[in-house]
Amino acid sequence: GRLVELLKRAPKAELHLHIEGTLEPEMMLALARRHGVALPYADVEAVRAAYAFTSLQSFLDLYYAGAGVLRDAQDFHDLAWAYFQRAAADGVVHAECFFDPQTHTARGVPLAAVFEGLVAAQRRAETELGLTARWILCVLRHLSEDEALATLEAALPWREHFIGLGLDSSELGHPPSKFQRVFARARALGLHVVAHAGEEGPPDYIRQALDLLQVQRIDHGVQAVHDAALLQRLARERVPLTVCPLSNVRLCVFPDLASHNLRTLLDAGLCVTVNSDDPAYFGGYVADNLVQTVQALGLDARAAWRLLANGFEAAFLDDATRARHL
Ligand code: HPA
Ligand code: ZN
Repeated sequence: GRLVELLKRAPKAELHLHIEGTLEPEMMLALARRHGVALPYADVEAVRAAYAFTSLQSFLDLYYAGAGVLRDAQDFHDLAWAYFQRAAADGVVHAECFFDPQTHTARGVPLAAVFEGLVAAQRRAETELGLTARWILCVLRHLSEDEALATLEAALPWREHFIGLGLDSSELGHPPSKFQRVFARARALGLHVVAHAGEEGPPDYIRQALDLLQVQRIDHGVQAVHDAALLQRLARERVPLTVCPLSNVRLCVFPDLASHNLRTLLDAGLCVTVNSDDPAYFGGYVADNLVQTVQALGLDARAAWRLLANGFEAAFLDDATRARHL
């Protein structure tokens, strides 16, 4: 109906998007051919058929394997440029995107190639699409804190090209407490700080992210509903949650969209935002996430507007960017 059409066109801020998670099967196969990389898939259908996930880890295994086709600056440019074009078509005017340097440096890809490609695409997005993009460097929590610290230090020659530090990958068994020094270092550098917490992990991981890492937003955070005091705190302090409904269903955090707890979080007064996480793997970009969630949960226009407004409230907008979009 009319609400759906309005939602598709409405200006959006995307705050939880892994650029490696925008690698569509077509591009994965094309880059594999370009570089002579062997993939265990004969065609696009075979790639899509492999996307039957049972948990975060079952997804991450394919996601890291897929990222193996990204080799040079051109690849990173092509990946990010394709995403920015899709995002703009979805009404995204501002995107704060994660990238995982360790996934690439571990394969011998120089950090310079990653930044060169991503920053070139970012500049094009701003001039050709009017979309402002920012980069958030994510460290992988299944690796050590020393490796995270070394990654952050190695990225400092490109300090002006990223606005924040994030924490992603396998959550269970890798609590935020493991990364206190690297987050303190990021804060001392004036970076924004965010962390994935409470996707599969317990509410205590969300508390740790707040208390030990002093994050400004929680990525996912849906497990907060199991802790009433934490829920109240998140509402009182208006800590944004970057929720990714289609991701949560694909990774079996909820059995279906109708069972998602987004409405509970919203009704509890939290600053809930809707985002797409790894859209090439989870079956939808941000407009799909928003429309399907509004429909599955029966949200009214007021609640839908709230979700969109929350995205701009939660964004790390500098004054010039804020003036441009609001
Ligand atoms: N969770 C953790 N790590 C990730 C995700 C996610 O949803 N997407 C890409 N890396
Ligand atoms: Zn994520």
